[in-house]
Amino acid sequence: MNNFIYHNPTKVAFGKGSIAKLSVLLPDAKIMLVYGGGSIKNNGIYQQILEQLEGRNWCEFSGIEPNPEYSTLMKAVELAKQEEVEFILAVGGGSVIDGSKFIAAAAHYDGEPWEILASGGKVHSAIPLGCVLTLPATGTETNTASVVNRTDIGKKLSFLSDHVRPKFAVLDPEATYSLPERQLANGVVDAFVHVMEQYLTYPIGASVQDRFAEAILSNLLEIGPQVLASQDYQVRANLMWNATQALSGLIGAGVPQDWSTHMIGHELTALHNLDHAVTLAIVLPRVMHYQKEHKREKLLQYAERVWGLSRYDEEGAIDLAIEKTEQFFRDMGIKTKLSEYDISSEVANEVARKLEENGFTRLGEHQNISPDDARKIVAACM
Ligand code: NZQ
Ligand code: ZN
Repeated sequence: MNNFIYHNPTKVAFGKGSIAKLSVLLPDAKIMLVYGGGSIKNNGIYQQILEQLEGRNWCEFSGIEPNPEYSTLMKAVELAKQEEVEFILAVGGGSVIDGSKFIAAAAHYDGEPWEILASGGKVHSAIPLGCVLTLPATGTETNTASVVNRTDIGKKLSFLSDHVRPKFAVLDPEATYSLPERQLANGVVDAFVHVMEQYLTYPIGASVQDRFAEAILSNLLEIGPQVLASQDYQVRANLMWNATQALSGLIGAGVPQDWSTHMIGHELTALHNLDHAVTLAIVLPRVMHYQKEHKREKLLQYAERVWGLSRYDEEGAIDLAIEKTEQFFRDMGIKTKLSEYDISSEVANEVARKLEENGFTRLGEHQNISPDDARKIVAACM
């Protein structure tokens, strides 16, 4: 196992009714409530938040899009400065929370905030933030990551900073009841792939990380179809906690990580506006195939422990595990071929060009996936 520092100080308030904990979680400060396109107004969460904000000094910013747009976020930065906001309350899915993280960092940044995403501009401080999660998927609610989109130049870029890790995360599984099937499926698949990016590399003797990862993968395989079929509270509660733990930092501590599927996926979203999880469902099976030899040991472990396949026929077990993984995504209602989204094979060259342009030239746990390899991977996604 590699050395690591593990520190995840986000306070989690979990369970039905936990939005009512906001009155004690929120500091005595000028608050900016940030949300998306209005789902929280339709499902009653906005009303619950208003009750918690009663008597406080607050303002609001709405309209954060899925794959949050830089230009929209910069308007929120202006408002935060104008209103002298001291705390941000993000209420929504990954896009609203990621967007709020960027707003928080950009509001304190000297210089052009785009640098934070595009050229490693250092975040030295940020407006503190807390969140109420309404879509279990990204894990952003307790992590340090934020992904921002810029449609005008076709770039989707991310940054990491301890300064934007939420101070608290309210996780009420009942907030998921209003989610359409498409977003539930996206959530299951995104969480599944987060685990795979941290698990499916090479053995390093990290038994806690491996077994935790395998538990989350098995859980998601089990609850995925149940999530689509019913509004059972326990199922939704398990979806939420599995998705949070998939990217809270715990299973990724001290182990090699891949993230090539995500990096290629982000380019597909930037180019063709595909949902984040859709890009992952398309790319992951092809990365597994392409990297079969480099990932051999972990693929066998995955086949055996997660899918219960025998190692007797190693090649067969690996191929079947990859096939079953893809079938799981399809069973969740997500198509796994680019042609099924009417995207032509030219996209493979475009993705390779964008990766090169953005400096992502050595992807994967061995840094051995070049833009040309990515081109071949995407070409195999047709
Ligand atoms: O905008 P509103 O009206 O809230 O509607 C949203 C949006 O249209 C809707 N929604 C959310 N909660 C709902 C709901 N509708 C009904 N009921 C509810 N309870 O769902 C739609 C999609 O929301 P979005 O936030 O975009 O989805 P998701 O949570 O999947 O976030 C995706 C974004 O997160 C990034 C992705 O790249 C993408 O930009 N990621 C962030 C990560 C991180 N920070 O660690 C890691 C991930 O790998 C990912 O890259
Ligand atoms: Zn993801």
